[in-house]
Amino acid sequence: MKKIYLGLFGFGNVGSGVIKILNLRRSLLRKKFGCDLVLKKVCDKNLTKKREVHLSRDILTSDANQILNDPNIDIVIELVGGIHPAKEFIMQALSKGKYVVTANKALLAEQGKEIFNLAKEHGKTIYFEASVGAGIPIIKSLKDGLAPDRFKRIFGILNGTSNFILSAMSEQNIDFVQALNLAKKYGFAERDARLDIQGIDSLHKLVVLVYLCYGKLVNLDDVFVDGIQHISLLDVIYAKELGYQIKLLAIAEKQGSELELRVHPTLIPQEHLLAKVKGINNAIYVSTDLAGDLLFFGPGAGKTAAASAVVSDLQDAVRDLEAGLFRRKSFAIEDKAVKKLRRIDQTESRYYVRFMVVDRPGVLSSISTILAKYDISIASVTQKERKRARIVPIVMIFHEVKERNMRLALEKIENLAVVKEVPVPIRIEQI
Ligand SMILES: NC(=O)c1ccc[n+]([C@@H]2O[C@H](COP(=O)([O-])OP(=O)(O)OC[C@H]3O[C@@H](n4cnc5c(N)ncnc54)[C@H](OP(=O)(O)O)[C@@H]3O)[C@@H](O)[C@H]2O)c1
Repeated sequence: MKKIYLGLFGFGNVGSGVIKILNLRRSLLRKKFGCDLVLKKVCDKNLTKKREVHLSRDILTSDANQILNDPNIDIVIELVGGIHPAKEFIMQALSKGKYVVTANKALLAEQGKEIFNLAKEHGKTIYFEASVGAGIPIIKSLKDGLAPDRFKRIFGILNGTSNFILSAMSEQNIDFVQALNLAKKYGFAERDARLDIQGIDSLHKLVVLVYLCYGKLVNLDDVFVDGIQHISLLDVIYAKELGYQIKLLAIAEKQGSELELRVHPTLIPQEHLLAKVKGINNAIYVSTDLAGDLLFFGPGAGKTAAASAVVSDLQDAVRDLEAGLFRRKSFAIEDKAVKKLRRIDQTESRYYVRFMVVDRPGVLSSISTILAKYDISIASVTQKERKRARIVPIVMIFHEVKERNMRLALEKIENLAVVKEVPVPIRIEQI
C-alpha cells in the first residue's frame, strides 16, 4: 500500500490527539484513505516535557527544518497555534510544495490573505476543519455540502468558554467572576481568558466562516466586537424573566448589497434552539437560499474532537495529493452581490437596556425625553426591586433603533445626575 508521510508541528493537546487517532484508527484510515499514513517527524520546542503519547526519539525533533526540508514529507500539520512561528512553518511548507493542515483560526483570520495567496500560487489548498467548532464538520459543510448555496446569514455560538460562563450564570445564579473561576477550575478557560471573554476568539472564527460563505477575507478591525465581561447576573436574570437567554453571538448577515458583521452578547428568545445550547458546546445556525435554515451543534473544544477534524482534513489532503492536481479551483468564491461591509453605526437592532437610577419621581421622564430626541421608541419598561439604598434598576426594551442613535442617547443619559452607573445595552435578535 502506498505510504504518505506526515510532519507535525506542535506536540500539545491537539497534536497528541492526532497522534493517538493515527495509531488507534490505523486500519480504518488505511481502508478509508487507500494509503498508509506514516508520521515521520513531530517538531516541538520542548522535547523533555511529559506527553500523553509516547513517541520514539527518532521521530521527535526541535528542528523545524527536519520537516520542512524533507522531500518525502507530503503533508504538514500545524498545531502550534498563535501567529509566529506558525505562519513561517506554513509559508515554508507551502513554498516547498507540501499540503498544509492547520487548526489555527487566529492565524487564518489575521494573516489568511497571504497564506491563501501563497497556497494558490503553489497550486495547493489549506485544510482547516478544526479551526471552527472543533469536531463539528462546519467547514466541509459550508464549502462542499452547501456548494451551490448563497448564504443569507450565520449566527454562531463559537466560543465554548463564554458559553459555559453565560450558562453557569443562568443556571446557577452566580455572577460573572464566579462563573469564570468555575470555567478555569474545570479546565474550560485558560488562565488568561481574555481572548475568549472579550469576543476575539469568536471574531477569528467568524472571519474564517465569512471567508467560506462570502469569499471575502475581512479585516478584523472592520468587525464590531464586544465581549461578555460586562454582563452581570442582574442582566441574565432580567433577560430570563423577559423570555430570553443571553448568548455571545458571532453574526454575519446579508442586508441587500451590504454585509453586516458583529460579535456581541445577544438576547435570543428562550424557545430558539440556539438558546438551548449550554456549557462548552458550540452551535452554528446557517440560513441559505437553497438548503434553508440549518443548525450545526457539538462540543466546541477538546483535543479529541479537534484532532478528529484534523485527521478528517488529512483525507481531503490525501485525495488532492493523489489526484495530483489542484482539485478544487477555489472553495471560497466571492459573493459579488456583497458590495461592502455595513458599518456598525448604520445597523439597526432591538435593544434591552438596564439603567441604575435614583429611586425618585421624574427620573423616567428625563430618560424618556432624551430617548424621544433620538427617535428611540420604547416597547416596555420595568422597574425592578431596589438593589442598593435608593438605587433601582430600570429595564427597557426598545423597538428597532439605529445603533448610532442608541449610542448617542445613552451617552447623554449616562451624564444625568440621577443615573448612577453606565447603562448596559444588549442587542436583541429575533432569530
Ligand atoms: N485545544 C482545543 O480544544 C482546540 C480546538 C480547536 C482548535 N485548536 C487549535 O489547535 C492549535 C493547537 O492547540 P493546542 O490546544 O493543542 O495547543 P497547545 O496544547 O498549547 O499545543 C501547542 C504545542 O506547540 C508547541 N510549540 C510552541 N511553539 C513552538 C515552536 N516554536 N516550535 C515547535 N513547537 C512549538 C507548544 O510547546 P509549549 O507547550 O512548550 O509552548 C505545545 O506543545 C491552536 O491553533 C488552537 O487554536 C485547539
